[in-house]
Amino acid sequence: AVRSFATTSSRQNAIKTVTVIGGGLMGSGIAQVAATTGHQVVMVDQTDDILGKSKASIQKSLQRVVKKKFAEDPKGGEQFVSDILGRITTQTDSNAAVANTDLVIEAIVENIDIKKKLFSSLDKAAPQHTIFTSNTSSLPIGDIAVSTQRQDRFGGLHFFNPVPMMKLLEVVRIPATSDETFNKLSDFGKAMKKTTVDCKDTPGFIVNRLLVPYMIEAVRMVERGDASFKDVDTAMKLGAGYPMGPFELSDYVGLDTMKFILDGWAVNYPDNPLFQPSALLDKYVAEGKLGAKSGEGFYNYKKK
Ligand code: 3HC
Repeated sequence: AVRSFATTSSRQNAIKTVTVIGGGLMGSGIAQVAATTGHQVVMVDQTDDILGKSKASIQKSLQRVVKKKFAEDPKGGEQFVSDILGRITTQTDSNAAVANTDLVIEAIVENIDIKKKLFSSLDKAAPQHTIFTSNTSSLPIGDIAVSTQRQDRFGGLHFFNPVPMMKLLEVVRIPATSDETFNKLSDFGKAMKKTTVDCKDTPGFIVNRLLVPYMIEAVRMVERGDASFKDVDTAMKLGAGYPMGPFELSDYVGLDTMKFILDGWAVNYPDNPLFQPSALLDKYVAEGKLGAKSGEGFYNYKKK
């Protein structure tokens, strides 16, 4: 009896409603997976136009899932999509969007001042129990959390692109994060059907700390003229079993995102040779070649 009581009470405490701030690539993916796993989701961005595009990209991704899961059951597939989309509402006012939420997941531009301003405002608008998280990949969670009076209810939830496909979720705690908050975030990750790993607030957490230096080393190799970027990709796919080579992956993640991560680390850790800027990466970003999303990065994605 005691056990069933514990289960019921932890279920009652579980995160049910989620506010995702930012309807870009990551925010849309997070909203999609949260809604797919039965959570009520509010997605926030600056304009209804952007939010319309976010919903369209969710729909497109869901169609890919349906094509596989409901190959023999088109009616079931339609129901599946409309149930999930029905759990996602949109809002342009972030303060209004958090009035009734259990969890905030922020996935906006990687700018510390903008993030701090957002959280400071949400801190006043959200209920006491609401947990705040950031999906940042380049900024320390602790530097963002200081903008609030709820550092014990603050942490990181770091997802991977494409969110519907990647099974991992990094759950990040800062020294002030309470055990209760951390456990709730880990339980939420599992409810989202992700495998969670526990991370401290160190640069790059686990995955990016290893992945980004590897990708930048590949860029440096090409800068030195040691190999062509296509050969590096072929080599790492066929010789090391990676699903994408480092240049395909850089284009997929976004060269601007890579630069944000690297530049952020270079400021905080100027002596680490792995975190030094790359002239070639900077040049691509300056030219607006940001990877798949802009139509060109190392590869060209424009339809001929
Ligand atoms: N939504 C739904 N389904 C998707 C999808 C999406 N966005 N992307 C892929 N799929 C599914 C589809 O079922 C697709 O079949 P379809 O093309 O018939 O619809 C199926 O996956 C296979 O996809 P592809 O044929 O396009 O190619 P792959 O077999 O190579 O799989 C991949 C694609 C899963 C993206 C795989 O290439 C991969 O795992 N790549 C590495 C990704 C990675 O490392 N991500 C982490 C980046 S780091 C990061 O995000 C952190 C940040 O902070 C920088």
